[in-house]
Amino acid sequence: MKVLITGGAGFIGSHVVRHFVNKYADYHIFNLDKLTYAGNLENLKDVENRPNYTFIKADIVEEKEMLRLFEQHRFDYVIHLAAESHVDRSISNPNDFVFTNIVGTVNLLNAARSIWNGETERKRFYHVSTDEVYGSLDETGLFTEDSRYDPRSPYSASKAGSDHLVRAYFHTFNLPVVISNCSNNYGSHQFPEKLIPLFINNIVNNKPLPVYGKGENVRDWLWVEDHVRAIDLILHIGKTGETYNIGGNNEWKNIDLIRLLCTIMDKKLHRETGESARLITFIKDRAGHDLRYAINASKLTQELGWQPSLPFETVLEKTVDWYLENTEWLRNVTSGDYKTYYERQYTTK
Ligand code: NAD
Ligand code: DAU
Repeated sequence: MKVLITGGAGFIGSHVVRHFVNKYADYHIFNLDKLTYAGNLENLKDVENRPNYTFIKADIVEEKEMLRLFEQHRFDYVIHLAAESHVDRSISNPNDFVFTNIVGTVNLLNAARSIWNGETERKRFYHVSTDEVYGSLDETGLFTEDSRYDPRSPYSASKAGSDHLVRAYFHTFNLPVVISNCSNNYGSHQFPEKLIPLFINNIVNNKPLPVYGKGENVRDWLWVEDHVRAIDLILHIGKTGETYNIGGNNEWKNIDLIRLLCTIMDKKLHRETGESARLITFIKDRAGHDLRYAINASKLTQELGWQPSLPFETVLEKTVDWYLENTEWLRNVTSGDYKTYYERQYTTK
């Protein structure tokens, strides 16, 4: 089987690539990535010389190049993760999100359709998406696969657009697709602009911890390796044309999660209790900040036998350890020309 993984140099993609290269020696894994600021081949150093692994540097927005690569390699499975993924960036620069997330996705759909030519046996286009397409919940309720789409940010609107296109190709062209919508991932190799790695990095460097609004927004946190196991199951035994929600059943108010992280960091850095929490700084809220995401993942647990694995506090501590042991990785990935939301809003040049 030839398996194309797009966005494999990013956070979740690199975990997916490593899992497939290690577990499926009889598959050939192609990692196609543009290597934006969020993609780092350093994430895959441990598998780069494996005989069943090939890296392709390419941009999914380039339609002809996608067709050419599909013709050349004749992929059987596509696991599509490449995307612009950070909500704050979509607020300051929506166009990149439309190009990569919508145009890029339709280019891949067209290329798959062209080489598969109506064949569906052992062919699959797996689109990895987000729970943010469902919008925002109040204090109660859970997103199910039947929840109405109601995206609120340019990021989630672009992911919703790509989901609709993937479903349209199933209904219109019988393309063998499957979609999953997952909650917030955390773990090693996450670019330090997302909440958990950003705050770990800032605590280490005694920089402010910018909490948007009052920190009352709620997110459901899932360990990235649990997401990867779900992707493996859905790719192999999920039903064609179906959608599966993936979530950790692990809701945290941002401020509670941040305080927990500060406690762990005080312990790891041998600081006095409360020292890291003193860095908490409440700042202007994110525009259109969704209040709460929460997932009902019972379709996945009941139909495919998936369960999230370890208790959150234990894995969060392991995640902290990884960042503390990989300061060189942190330095390298942040050495490019980028500024966090906080730095863009609150520091002068
Ligand atoms: P990421 O930003 O860490 O990685 C994205 C990868 O895509 C990078 O390697 C980047 O170089 C690549 N890429 C971007 N534009 C490209 C282009 N035009 N052509 C080729 N490659 C390109 O993202 P992530 O957090 O790993 O998310 C991966 C996928 O999972 C995304 O589709 C995202 O919407 C989805 N998702 C993420 C989360 C989460 O919590 N991070 C949750 C649910 C779903
Ligand atoms: O729900 C899945 C989504 O989770 C994915 O589709 C996205 O790709 C991923 O980025 C993530 O989106 P969020 O916006 O929820 O993640 P982020 O880490 O940016 O923020 C988590 C919460 O923390 C959110 O409520 C905003 C808040 N926050 C974030 C940052 C970066 C802060 O208060 N301060 C910050 O500096």
